[in-house]
Amino acid sequence: MDTSRAGARERDAADPLAAFADRFDVPGLYMDGNSLGPISQDAERTLDRVREEWRERAIGGWTDGDPPWFEYAEALGDRLAPLVGADSSEVVVANSTTVNIHTLIDTFLEDGTVVVNELDFPTDHYAIRAQLRRRGLDPDEHLVVVESRDGRTIDADDVIDALSEDVDVLFMPSVLYRSGQLFDLERLTSAAHDHGALAGFDLAHSVGVVDHALGEIGVDFAVWCHYKYCNAGPGAPAGLYVAERHFDRRPALPGWWGHEKETQFELRQTYTPAPDAGAYQIGTPPVLAMAPLEGALETIEAAGIEAIRENSLELTEYLISLADERLPECTVGTPREPARRGGHVALEHPDAYGVCHALKERDVVVDFRPPNVIRVCPSPLYTSFEDVYRVVEEFVEVLEEGEYEGIEPKDADVT
Ligand SMILES: Cc1ncc(COP(=O)(O)O)c(C=O)c1O
Repeated sequence: MDTSRAGARERDAADPLAAFADRFDVPGLYMDGNSLGPISQDAERTLDRVREEWRERAIGGWTDGDPPWFEYAEALGDRLAPLVGADSSEVVVANSTTVNIHTLIDTFLEDGTVVVNELDFPTDHYAIRAQLRRRGLDPDEHLVVVESRDGRTIDADDVIDALSEDVDVLFMPSVLYRSGQLFDLERLTSAAHDHGALAGFDLAHSVGVVDHALGEIGVDFAVWCHYKYCNAGPGAPAGLYVAERHFDRRPALPGWWGHEKETQFELRQTYTPAPDAGAYQIGTPPVLAMAPLEGALETIEAAGIEAIRENSLELTEYLISLADERLPECTVGTPREPARRGGHVALEHPDAYGVCHALKERDVVVDFRPPNVIRVCPSPLYTSFEDVYRVVEEFVEVLEEGEYEGIEPKDADVT
């Protein structure tokens, strides 16, 4: 691979997504879109529109907004469905990812066990353990935690070996938040089904950057957030998917916003769930927080999720090649096979915290995940190959100048 700066420029000139960067406002060399995507003109436009609808119509926005706020979560679900490979009835925007894990695990768990892995984002375990406890089940017995062999990745064979007839739900991430390992969801789903278990996934690190075919591969349910690769803004409400064959289940955490829409405002004391994934909404949706997602999805639709995935793989491959060549002090913790790689690259360094801090001083935004990982995310819609080249240049200088030395993590740092 040509790892020169001129080579990066040549790749940018041939990049079909290059022009999308003009739609975003990105502070510095921004490689943190796997934590929080930046604002785009499209997201700002829909946010402004909804704010004006509020100003001009107040309560009328629920029925006369464009689209009406009353069905905004469903309308956005329709737009999201192709990104995850689902039918529009199977997807809705609702709640937060953590709340969605609670409601879906509570709905689908019976009195058996749940299989997870030790490298999960912790909120998943907090929620599942609480759901087990609520049933009087000891989480230490009923949560089967698959261990990592190398501290970075999880071997899918070990996940499959952990399945048994006692398992109600296999709940796995699509992409591990630290190393960026991408799992074969189809293989895990069919292994879960072979054992009579359901397959649920946390897609927080893949929706918007990896294309999915949840319906085709038989996934039972899934959750994800929109503030990362979907660029919908801090704390944007989350997404969820429930396969149509499960529409007869009653949501475990009912609320009036998940009521059948036609009769919701009859305000009966008995709950009739919506006949689709919309039933998993709980309370009134945060319309202003949802509004940027509409515009942000327009950008993703215009680029095309397959093209985004292709571009992401090229950018991460390029970053890995540069790291191999110019950052011998770092270990690449992300799988190198494209089919096992999500949207970011984990560079391991014993002083990862200090390196992140020093890079920030140089306006390079990456993030630190304990104990030794620097996550670098060249998110395709606004990152050029030359940006990746420049990040590695800054990185080399930080290491050469020892700028990372003596910087210790502070408790209050949120990075
Ligand atoms: C895999 C995963 N799940 C869940 C979350 C967070 O969930 P919530 O949006 O409820 O804070 C994150 C946050 O980074 C995550 O990486």
